[in-house]
Amino acid sequence: MVNGEFMSRDLLSEINRDHFRERLSKYTRKAFQMLPELDRPRILDVGCGSGVPTLLLAKLSKGEVIGIDIDQTLLDELNRKIEEEGLANSVTTKKCSLFEMDFPDESFDIIWAEGSIWIIGFEKGLKEWRRLLKPNGFLVVHDEIKTVSNKLKKIPSCGYKLINHFSLPEGAHWTEYYRPLEIRIKELFMKYKNNSEALKILKKYQNEIDMVKRNPEEHSSAFYIMQKS
Ligand SMILES: C[S@@+](CC[C@H](N)C(=O)[O-])C[C@H]1O[C@@H](n2cnc3c(N)ncnc32)[C@H](O)[C@@H]1O
Repeated sequence: MVNGEFMSRDLLSEINRDHFRERLSKYTRKAFQMLPELDRPRILDVGCGSGVPTLLLAKLSKGEVIGIDIDQTLLDELNRKIEEEGLANSVTTKKCSLFEMDFPDESFDIIWAEGSIWIIGFEKGLKEWRRLLKPNGFLVVHDEIKTVSNKLKKIPSCGYKLINHFSLPEGAHWTEYYRPLEIRIKELFMKYKNNSEALKILKKYQNEIDMVKRNPEEHSSAFYIMQKS
């Protein structure tokens, strides 16, 4: 390895977290199929990360997707995949915080947020993002399962009607994502056992895995499919 930066980039592509994230794509697909058919919708993906749902949404919708995130490294990875998959005409990225989305009112047919609304809070997110939706536009949120019933109650007062919602099977994040990822991390611990830089990065991943492993049922999540009313 030439230097720390190269090492970390190289190792991240060896871990290939997206490969494991794709195992949860069936739930993104299920949520999308709960929406009515829309003609080439304009979609905002809030907190898109390296874009596993972003790219899937572009393919499913045949529309235009804009992914926003604050992490440029993740956006660089998404931009690389956009090029690789020939999706430059339908997917674009923008580095911006979900607290500072300065798109004009009524810009989007769909706002999609997987794993990001907790950053602003469910209720605040619903209220603040509403202006960005076209009349009768849709908001799809994938969020931790805690307090589902409270969240369901808040939806009408935030200016939406609930179209549908579903929970991922209990332990799905563990069995479908973190457990296979852990196997990969363990292989890399062996491979890099004499490389302290690599071990530091791998340890960070292992800590996250251990947190979920201790309480897999606490890491369940649910999708909420809502329409602006
Ligand atoms: C759990 S990840 C979800 C990534 C992607 N949506 C997915 O489902 O694979 C949460 C994402 O939110 C992003 N994020 C964190 N704070 C943010 C902010 N203030 N504005 C926009 N994105 C943010 C992180 O960089 C990360 O990519």
